[in-house]
Amino acid sequence: MKKLFLAAIAAVAMGTSAYADTIKVGVIGPFSGPFALQGKNFKAGIDAYMAVNGNKVGNDTVEIVYRDVPQADPAQSKALAQELIVKEKVQYLAGFYFTPDAMAVTPILKQGNVPMVIMNAATSAIVTKSPLVVRTSFTTWQTSTPIAKVAFDAGVKKVISVVSDYGPGIDAENAFKAGFEKAGGQVVEAIRMPLATNDFSPIMQRIRDSGAEGVFAFLPSGPTTLGFVKAYNDNGLKAAGIKFFAPGDLTQESDLPALGDAALGIQTTFHYAVSHDSPENKAFVEAATKAIGNKAELSFPSVSAYDGMYVIYKMIEATGGNQDAEKAVDAVKGLAWTSPRGPVSIDPESRHITQNIYLREVTKADDGTYINKEVQTFEKQGDPGLAAVK
Ligand code: PHB
Repeated sequence: MKKLFLAAIAAVAMGTSAYADTIKVGVIGPFSGPFALQGKNFKAGIDAYMAVNGNKVGNDTVEIVYRDVPQADPAQSKALAQELIVKEKVQYLAGFYFTPDAMAVTPILKQGNVPMVIMNAATSAIVTKSPLVVRTSFTTWQTSTPIAKVAFDAGVKKVISVVSDYGPGIDAENAFKAGFEKAGGQVVEAIRMPLATNDFSPIMQRIRDSGAEGVFAFLPSGPTTLGFVKAYNDNGLKAAGIKFFAPGDLTQESDLPALGDAALGIQTTFHYAVSHDSPENKAFVEAATKAIGNKAELSFPSVSAYDGMYVIYKMIEATGGNQDAEKAVDAVKGLAWTSPRGPVSIDPESRHITQNIYLREVTKADDGTYINKEVQTFEKQGDPGLAAVK
């Protein structure tokens, strides 16, 4: 008995959890406010994973502790991450919808001995800020590079670029410009909008005045994207024949009913469509629908959260439940599996996810719902943005 007690003390002193049978995962995301549906999708993906795979890894029980950062707020994100590490004693941090919220936490990972599994934030550079970051979502470089070729091949030679003025927007602008100019096209103007912009009429006027044949756009998914695509339709740009090109953030499935028939035909490139046709996705959508309660609310953050949990379970397995962030991250370098989105792997060098990017078109399914229908596959895409930040 005494021996056991001493062993337990030693384990605690060493910071291991040999005797702690609950492993906490702290998840930071927008669970209230205008972006609450995106956070709800994190939770749906996590719940779906745990419903299918159980809440145990070996003898250990996994417990999720949620913290709400409603809008991009790096100071709040960092404070909550610190609280999760110090008070809640989480072994893993995950979630992070907005880039600034992820960036603010990377400096404390090493000291906290905690890996970070990014389930959305899409600026290429985040993974370079700490060797303890692993990302299961996408980058805007990864998703915006293929649409540049699609735009050029559609016969469009002059494009105006419009993005939110922060990390993933600037990456998207650079990715599109690089791809489009390489193909032979020209970006005639590049507009960066403050993140909080919600009146898009003046922007629509500038797009018209630019004389461009097409517009490339990136904004973070949520009320922002819905407002932007609505403004494109309502201000007559679609009617004027100005073509629309964007990564799939702009046509997330949960926005499509509000856009209605005006969205039909919009082409985007992205890593995941809820309509993706595979047995893995069928099982995922069933479990995630049960978790979220309404299939119409399902969107892409759910799949990155689901795969993020897969990665965390692998990390827990590899460390035997002990807190060893470096060992946990090392264990998933090169990990390959079939995600609901298709085949994926964690690039051992960048710790970012390699995946197919699909060209999709908004169509009406047989049951009358609007979907992103996959029409072309760009296979095994890494992150072209990492070459740019190195
Ligand atoms: C980000 O802040 O990195 C971000 C947020 C929402 C998106 C894409 C990227 O749809």
